Amino acid sequence: MNIPAIDIENLTKRYGHGDTAVDALKGVNMTIWPGEVVGLVGPSGSGKSTLLKCLGAVIEPTSGKMQLGGQTIFDNKWEIDDLRTLRRDRIGFVFQAPYLIPFLDVTDNIALLPMLAGVPNDKARERARELLAALDVGHRAMAQVSQLSGGEQQRVSIARALANHPPVILADEPTAPLDSERALNVVRLLNQMAQQYQTAIIVVTHDEKIIPTFKRIYHIRDGRTYEEAGEGRAA
Ligand SMILES: Nc1ncnc2c1ncn2[C@@H]1O[C@H](COP(=O)(O)OP(=O)(O)O)[C@@H](O)[C@H]1O
Ligand SMILES: [Mg+2]
Repeated sequence: MNIPAIDIENLTKRYGHGDTAVDALKGVNMTIWPGEVVGLVGPSGSGKSTLLKCLGAVIEPTSGKMQLGGQTIFDNKWEIDDLRTLRRDRIGFVFQAPYLIPFLDVTDNIALLPMLAGVPNDKARERARELLAALDVGHRAMAQVSQLSGGEQQRVSIARALANHPPVILADEPTAPLDSERALNVVRLLNQMAQQYQTAIIVVTHDEKIIPTFKRIYHIRDGRTYEEAGEGRAA
């Protein structure tokens, strides 16, 4: 396993131009291996969300290099044409809010993405049920989103991020709205999923409850990253 899932070299991102330009990323370096769950920690405004959006091909970096699974996706410009397919098939997103679709039931919220990727409906639903079971919300498969608790909705959103078995998951403050026990549970599940599917997961957080659980942490400050070994207690 000597191909990193994610490899970022000297990435920069400038918003805007001239006097009002903001250098949100000033040189980010990061290497993450398949199956790793890495924390990305830094104060508000340090560039965490910008980094995840660049990596998720939601916004375009200004310069530097990004590789996914050994493939260069950005080298001072996009190196692949179809960013939509890249986002759909190779990257799962987990946000602070679950953003589930209220008029679909729990199973269809997850099955939707594989269906859009061309997986037959019954296979997509089967995969959704498997993931829900793995995340301990199998009994909620037929429920409406509005019937779920906050913690259950967040677990469903993790199942959705995993639905196309992406090699990379980007989670932006996924535990912010949760209490201690549920937050630790979400991290435990992310670790379990990383091991089971060899997914590389970046968890943006400033949640003191979960920071001690990471084996490896990147700190980001003023647009630059610094790596350190974490305590990795719960991993
Ligand atoms: N769309 C944008 N246009 C201009 N500046 C932005 C934009 N998004 C973020 N920024 C600025 O970039 C910096 C990093 O923001 P962000 O990545 O959201 O930080 P974090 O997620 O760590 O709080 C901040 O100074 C922020 O104000
Ligand atoms: Mg942010």
